[in-house]
Amino acid sequence: MKKVYLIGYMGCGKSAIGKRLSFATKMPYYDMDSEIVKKMGMTIPEIFETYGEERFRELETEFLNTFRDEFCIIATGGGVPMRKENREIMRRTGIVFFLNAPFRDIWRRIASDRNRPIVQRSTRLDLEKLFNERKPHYLHTAHFKVETENRSLRDIMDYIAFQIRRLRGEL
Ligand code: S3P
Repeated sequence: MKKVYLIGYMGCGKSAIGKRLSFATKMPYYDMDSEIVKKMGMTIPEIFETYGEERFRELETEFLNTFRDEFCIIATGGGVPMRKENREIMRRTGIVFFLNAPFRDIWRRIASDRNRPIVQRSTRLDLEKLFNERKPHYLHTAHFKVETENRSLRDIMDYIAFQIRRLRGEL
């Protein structure tokens, strides 16, 4: 096990958990979206607008294929597990945690977000439908499903950190 991938829908807490987890496990943390933004020198909405969503999806797969070979925590974009190739890379190169949150919690967090093109172009109903379409892929990709409803960031982080230590043979 080299990489720890956090997967799940937009607004499920991947970045918040990833940062805390990095501190607790002393593993470096990377946010896939930020890495793509850095590489392209453009924001996510600009990439969508200039090159289209399909190009963005290719950039996600390129990231997974080429990112440095080290022990680290990676918060993935919400659409990453929709591609079979991405699912296979993640499962082959690391351990995958799906952060499960109810749609109403997610909606509360993402409704007014201007940096997520999918939110910008969709209604609440569209986003809920997409959430339901994606969920089986998240479940299928993950080694662990982590329930986040009514749990503090601290509790969620402790649970994942425990599993990482166990898998690395530290417990
Ligand atoms: C997307 C999620 C975003 C980002 C892009 C597309 C998606 O990442 O990759 O806006 O398709 O769900 P977060 O899950 O970090 O918001």
